Amino acid sequence: MRPSLLGGVPAGVGERLCTIKGRLPPRRDVGSVASQGSLALHLLTGRVLSPETPEGLRVTERTGIFAGDDPFAIARAWLGEAERTEPNDPSAIALATVDASGLPNVRMVLLKEIEAQGFVFYTNYESSKAEELDGAGRAAFVMHWKSLRRQVRVRGPVERVEGPQADAYYASRSLQSRLGAWASRQSRPLDSRGSLLAEVAKVTARLGTNPPRPPFWGGYRLTPLELEFWADGPFRLHDRFRWTRGDVDSDWTVTRLNP
Ligand SMILES: Cc1cc2nc3c(=O)[nH]c(=O)nc-3n(C[C@H](O)[C@H](O)[C@H](O)COP(=O)(O)O)c2cc1C
Repeated sequence: MRPSLLGGVPAGVGERLCTIKGRLPPRRDVGSVASQGSLALHLLTGRVLSPETPEGLRVTERTGIFAGDDPFAIARAWLGEAERTEPNDPSAIALATVDASGLPNVRMVLLKEIEAQGFVFYTNYESSKAEELDGAGRAAFVMHWKSLRRQVRVRGPVERVEGPQADAYYASRSLQSRLGAWASRQSRPLDSRGSLLAEVAKVTARLGTNPPRPPFWGGYRLTPLELEFWADGPFRLHDRFRWTRGDVDSDWTVTRLNP
């Protein structure tokens, strides 16, 4: 079997893609990028993506799932859809940080609030991630929903969320989770599961059924200066829109990106 230059794509399909690409007129010779895109997809799939169809409109304009002038509203809408389609943890984000030596780090956390200008999650302030968040003062995360074939990427400065907002979220958690937050010395070595359970028993006896928020536990708000909304397209011709702003008070600039 001949090796395929397109990796996972079977050799036959690769040939077809290359042939069709070769036949396409150069961009300047066609009426618009949209008509060129429709032609290419028509040749590949037999489907015409005209601007009259929702799928076709996505080729030319920022409409449908990408529409609007508030990226937080778009993120909320996408998460709302994912809450109906994802089997588990639709609000899970892969949170990326960088340590003092510049080495990146990443782990999942649950996004708890999408505010007017920020994304909030909660954790232990003595954990590795907290050290990295406090040290660098900025972070990035990605949300990916397999069921929707979409991702949202977010980057920007971070700050702690403490006081009444963190107290209210802490109070909304189950008693076991509230006590667990007290018992876990997150990210530090633990000799056994038994030691952790003994610690839970100790804090339960000490704090009872209404523990206050631990002083070493609270939230972080990431206020994005950059977001990207990505949706899967046919033949890896995905749609990407990057939103950027110089600072929190500036207007957003939206740019369509190559897949
Ligand atoms: C789906 C999922 C959700 C998680 N949510 C949180 C969370 O909201 N907060 C948190 O501190 N850890 C959460 N964790 C655990 C973290 O991934 C990580 O193990 C822990 O926070 C310690 O990370 P660190 O050592 O980098 O600080 C979650 C893990 C998974 C898989």
